[in-house]
Amino acid sequence: MDEPLILVEREGRVGIVRLNRPRVLNALNTSLMKELADVLEEMDRDENIGCIILTGQGKAFAAGADISEMADAAPFQFVGNAYFADWQRVRRVEKPLIAAVAGYALGGGNELAMCCDIIIAAETARFGQPEILLGVIPGAGGTQRLTRSVGKGKAMEMILTGDPITAEEALDWGLINRVVPPEQLEPEALSLAQKIAEKPPLAVKMAKQAILRAQEMSLEQGLHFEQLAFGMLFSTEDQREGMNAFIEKRKAQFKGK
Ligand code: HXC
Repeated sequence: MDEPLILVEREGRVGIVRLNRPRVLNALNTSLMKELADVLEEMDRDENIGCIILTGQGKAFAAGADISEMADAAPFQFVGNAYFADWQRVRRVEKPLIAAVAGYALGGGNELAMCCDIIIAAETARFGQPEILLGVIPGAGGTQRLTRSVGKGKAMEMILTGDPITAEEALDWGLINRVVPPEQLEPEALSLAQKIAEKPPLAVKMAKQAILRAQEMSLEQGLHFEQLAFGMLFSTEDQREGMNAFIEKRKAQFKGK
């Protein structure tokens, strides 16, 4: 039987999703992306999961889209919704996604990490957009998300040279949240994920949506969205519980309602 392309584990309220094509450095072929989107959507629906870690294994988070699969592609395979539908499904996951990156995060691998909400890296991590070396450009958000994340000059440098940056550079440039020794990567990602997973899920969901809108909308529209989301949360039991617990000086028990 073929090995699964995605491995799934659970640690309490945290879902751990591991890309599993180590022999090709977790190259992202269409079957893997479909399985990944399926697994993430399933976790998104599971009310016993509050936060999701996405990680790789061995030498790579992911070394990009699968070049052998892509080499003979026809232009219109990539235009419209067909090819990128599974990427869109990943992007639409409502629960927080933490990318735990060790080794290569290149091309689509870096783009996948940037689809996540928080990136934690091992010292071994290398982030890059080497598509220019293949005669193309990033296609799954690299020119847009990287530029929003590190600014125009640094995005230009990475995308036009194809040279990867180290974890320390990525931290310094604001692409990632923190760098840890390799053996600390999973414990660190897990403890952050557990902390988030304990929080009131509806507030977490609205916070993620609002923050993502800061990159997509004008300030006026973003503030309007924030105000609506803030107001909506006053319809939840968790808001009453959170505020009553503060007043009564006890720990809140959130229910996700
Ligand atoms: C298919 C890949 C691959 C990839 C590695 N492999 N990356 N196969 N697609 N993206 C395979 C190799 O062919 C090789 O298979 C095996 O994985 C191990 O890789 P090596 O090259 O032998 O390892 P190493 O010498 O350590 O070099 C590591 C590396 C190099 C620097 C990461 O593999 C590399 O440059 N990979 C390509 C990175 C890249 O260009 N990514 C962008 C892709 S385009 P065999 O069978 O020989 O053992 C892209 C566009 C996204 O991502 C936009 C749309 C989604």
